[in-house]
Amino acid sequence: MTTLGHAVDLGPLDDFASGEARQVLAGDRVLVVVRIDQDVYVLDDRCSHEDYSLAEGEVDVEAREIECARHGAMFALADGTPTSLPATRPVARYEARIRDGRVEVVLSWARTW
Ligand code: FES
Repeated sequence: MTTLGHAVDLGPLDDFASGEARQVLAGDRVLVVVRIDQDVYVLDDRCSHEDYSLAEGEVDVEAREIECARHGAMFALADGTPTSLPATRPVARYEARIRDGRVEVVLSWARTW
């Protein structure tokens, strides 16, 4: 399996407040970006329980998780895994990085051949 992708600029790091979630559009995707100090996490902005924006939820900075504001499911920012019910399926997670003071996300897809 090969992973392909391309980096998309999401803007200056300073535009993302530490410990807060923010919805960002990148191409045809709706993402939630969470910055914690010098770490940046990017997930699909869609709870896997029902279709609800994770950007509406609170960030648990200590646990590095985000809470869905609708029913309270928690997701690990590092990989999108649900850590509490009612969500049982992961949310897609994207590689993110800081380069020259700007946030980039790698929008990737997996392909087998
Ligand atoms: S919609 Fe997110 S926990 Fe139900």
